Amino acid sequence: MAERDTSTPTPAEDAVEIAQGDEAEGLTQRRRRRFIKWGVISLAVVVVILLVLPVVSMLQPGYYRRYPALRDRMDHWAVSTHSRISCAECHVNPGAGAFLTFAAKSIPAFYSQLVKGPSTTNLLRAPTRAACQKCHTTYRQVSPAGDLLIPHRAHVVVLDMQCVTCHKNLVHSPNRRGFNRPEMEGCVGQCHNGDTASDQCTDCHTRKQTPDTHERADWLAIHGTMADTIDCSECHDWTPEYCAACHEKRPASHAGNWKKDHAPVAKKRGDGCLVCHGGEKFCKECH
Ligand code: HEC
Ligand code: HEC
Ligand code: HEC
Ligand code: HEC
Ligand code: HEC
Ligand code: HEC
Ligand code: HEC
Ligand code: HEC
Repeated sequence: MAERDTSTPTPAEDAVEIAQGDEAEGLTQRRRRRFIKWGVISLAVVVVILLVLPVVSMLQPGYYRRYPALRDRMDHWAVSTHSRISCAECHVNPGAGAFLTFAAKSIPAFYSQLVKGPSTTNLLRAPTRAACQKCHTTYRQVSPAGDLLIPHRAHVVVLDMQCVTCHKNLVHSPNRRGFNRPEMEGCVGQCHNGDTASDQCTDCHTRKQTPDTHERADWLAIHGTMADTIDCSECHDWTPEYCAACHEKRPASHAGNWKKDHAPVAKKRGDGCLVCHGGEKFCKECH
C-alpha cells in the first residue's frame, strides 16, 4: 500500500486547510477579543470595588474602631444622645459635592492605613452648621428646662456662628461639670464679658435660675443674714467683686443725718456693719 505524500496536499485539500486555518485563526481572535473584553470588564469591576470599598467602609462607624487615637471619641459617642447617628451624618456636609469630596479623601486614607497602619486621625473634620441643620432648626429660644434664654437664630443666623463653637462637648467629651451641654465659661469667656456682649445674669438666666430667697421683697435688706446658710459663691463667683462692688455703694439705711443717727441701727445689726466697713478700724476713727 503506497503511502500518500502528506507533505504535498492537493489544491482541494489546500483550500480546506486554508479555510480551517482561517476558522481557527478567527476562533482564536474571537477568543482573544472575548478574553480582552472580559479582562477589561473584570478589571473595571476590581477597580470599582477598590474605589467603592474605602468609601463604604468609611461610612460605617465601626470602621473607625481601628484608629487607636479615636477610641476615646468612639466610646463617648456610643453613650451620647447621638449614638444612633452615624459619623457621616455629622461629619459629611449635605449635598453631592460634599459627598464626592469625602469619597475622594477616603480612598487614599483607607489604603494608607492598610499599608502604614491606622495612625491618621484627621480623617473627619469638625461638623459644620449645615450638617447639624440636616436635622435641627435654628428657631430655639430657650433651653428645654426653661432656665436659660438662648436665642439660636441671633447666634447662628445673624452672627453666623457654627453650632460646634458652643456645642463642642455634644458627643465626644463631657464638659468640666460632666455634661454634654454648653458651659457658661464658653459664653462669658468668649463674648459675654460685658464689653463685646452683655454679662448681666438675667440676659441669659430666666427667673427660674434665681433662688426663691431672692424673690422676697426685703431680700436686699435680709440677704446678709443668709450669707452663712447658702453657698452664695456657687452663683456669684461668676462675677468677681459681685458682692464687693455693691457694698461700696451707700445703702438706703444711711439716710438723713446718718453720721450721727446710726446708733439704733448699729445696735441692732452688730457685726453687719463690718461687711462693708472692713475692720473695726473704721468705727474706731470716731469711737
Ligand atoms: C451628632 C454629631 C456627631 C456625630 C454623630 C459624630 N461626631 Fe465627631 N464631632 C462632632 C463634633 C461636634 C466635633 C467637634 C468637637 C470635638 O472635637 O469634639 C467632632 C469632632 C470629631 C473629630 C475631630 C475633628 C477635628 O477636626 O478635630 C473626629 C476625628 C471625630 N469627630 C470622629 C467621629 C467619629 C469616628 C464618629 C462616629 C463614630 C463621629 N465623630 C460621630 C460631632 C459628631
Ligand atoms: C441625623 C440627624 C441629626 C444630626 C445630623 C444632628 N442631630 Fe442633634 N439630635 C438628633 C436627635 C434625633 C436628637 C434627640 C436625641 C435624644 O434626645 O435621644 C438630637 C438631640 C440634640 C441635642 C439635645 C440633646 C443633647 O445631647 O444635648 C442637641 C444639643 C443637638 N442634638 C445638637 C446637634 C448639633 C450641634 C449637631 C451638629 C454637630 C447635631 N445635633 C446633629 C438628630 C441629629
Ligand atoms: C451661642 C452658643 C450656641 C450656638 C451657636 C448654638 N447653640 Fe444650641 N444651645 C446653646 C445653649 C446654651 C443651649 C442650652 C443648653 C441647656 O442648658 O440645655 C442650647 C440648646 C440647644 C438644643 C436643645 C438641647 C436639648 O437639651 O434639647 C439644641 C437641639 C441645639 N442647641 C442645637 C443647636 C444647633 C443645631 C446649632 C447650630 C445650628 C446650635 N445649637 C448653635 C448654645 C448654642
Ligand atoms: C451669656 C449668657 C450667660 C450669662 C450672662 C450668665 N450665664 Fe450663667 N450660665 C450660662 C450657661 C450657658 C450655663 C450652662 C447651662 C447648663 O449647664 O445647663 C450657665 C450656668 C450657670 C450656673 C450653673 C453652673 C453649674 O455649676 O452648673 C450658674 C450658677 C450660673 N450660670 C450663674 C450665673 C450668674 C450668677 C450670672 C451673672 C453673674 C450668669 N450666670 C450669667 C449662660 C450665662
Ligand atoms: C445690690 C447690692 C448688693 C449686692 C449685690 C450685695 N449686697 Fe450685701 N448688702 C447690700 C446692702 C444695701 C446692705 C445693707 C442692708 C441694710 O442695711 O439694709 C448689705 C448688707 C450685707 C451684709 C450685712 C447684713 C447686715 O446685717 O446688715 C452682708 C453679710 C452682706 N450684705 C453679704 C453680701 C454677700 C455675701 C453678697 C454677695 C453674694 C452681697 N451681700 C451682695 C447690698 C448688696
Ligand atoms: C442659684 C444661684 C444663686 C445663689 C445660690 C445666690 N444667688 Fe444671689 N443672685 C442670683 C442671680 C441670678 C441674681 C441676679 C438676678 C436677680 O436679680 O434676680 C442674684 C442677685 C443677687 C443680689 C442682688 C439683688 C438685687 O435686687 O439687685 C444679691 C444682693 C444677692 N444675689 C445676694 C446673694 C446672697 C447673699 C447669696 C447667698 C446667701 C446668694 N445671692 C445666692 C443667683 C444666686
Ligand atoms: C452695704 C454696705 C454698707 C453697710 C452694710 C453699712 N455701710 Fe456705712 N457706709 C457705706 C458707704 C458706701 C459709706 C460711704 C463711704 C464714703 O462716702 O466714703 C458709708 C458710710 C458710713 C458712715 C460715715 C458717715 C457718712 O454718712 O458718710 C458711717 C458712720 C457708717 N457708714 C456707719 C455704718 C454703720 C453703723 C453700719 C451698720 C449699721 C453701716 N454703716 C453699714 C456702706 C455701708
Ligand atoms: C464719723 C464718725 C463715726 C463713725 C465712723 C462711726 N460712728 Fe458710731 N457714732 C458716732 C456718733 C457721732 C454717735 C452718736 C453719739 C451720741 O449720740 O452720743 C455714734 C453712736 C454710735 C453708737 C451708739 C453709741 C452708744 O454707745 O450708745 C453705736 C453702737 C455706734 N455708733 C456704732 C458704730 C459702728 C459699729 C461704727 C462702724 C461701722 C460706727 N459707729 C462708726 C460717730 C461715728
